[in-house]
Amino acid sequence: MKIAMGNDHSAVEMKLEIKAYLEDKGYEVVDFGTNDTVSCDYPVYGEKVGRAVAGGEADLGILICGTGVGISLAANKVKGIRACVCSEPYSAKLSRLHNNTNILAFGARVVGVELAKMIVDQWLEAEFEGGRHQRRVDMIMEIEKNGK
Ligand code: RB5
Repeated sequence: MKIAMGNDHSAVEMKLEIKAYLEDKGYEVVDFGTNDTVSCDYPVYGEKVGRAVAGGEADLGILICGTGVGISLAANKVKGIRACVCSEPYSAKLSRLHNNTNILAFGARVVGVELAKMIVDQWLEAEFEGGRHQRRVDMIMEIEKNGK
């Protein structure tokens, strides 16, 4: 499985730790940066990862900024993206099972690296359940289609 990763300056160290963790587990990671701790604009990386996932260049995406909020908001502006911020594993798992999220975001200033690994594991190991949840995800995507 190919995972696109992106982050701003606040999350370089966290991104590198999670990237190495995923690669050790056999995932292929495409790193969209930044790898610089100089202050930068998180929408750039949210959009890059959003486009990679929406365009099929990667199967799923992981975004990290200070809180996970700004970078997920940017990714969610890309058509086809369902990004969510998760600071604990339960919501991360349910976001896959029920909401079919294709991007996970979290905050490097919110969660520690060990908790981040648990969040990422639960998210990656869960599979969308479909059924009644498919109808609801379709309804979300319909809002996007009809958006003005
Ligand atoms: C950067 O200081 C910070 O605003 C950013 O990482 C993120 O938390 C925004 O949502």
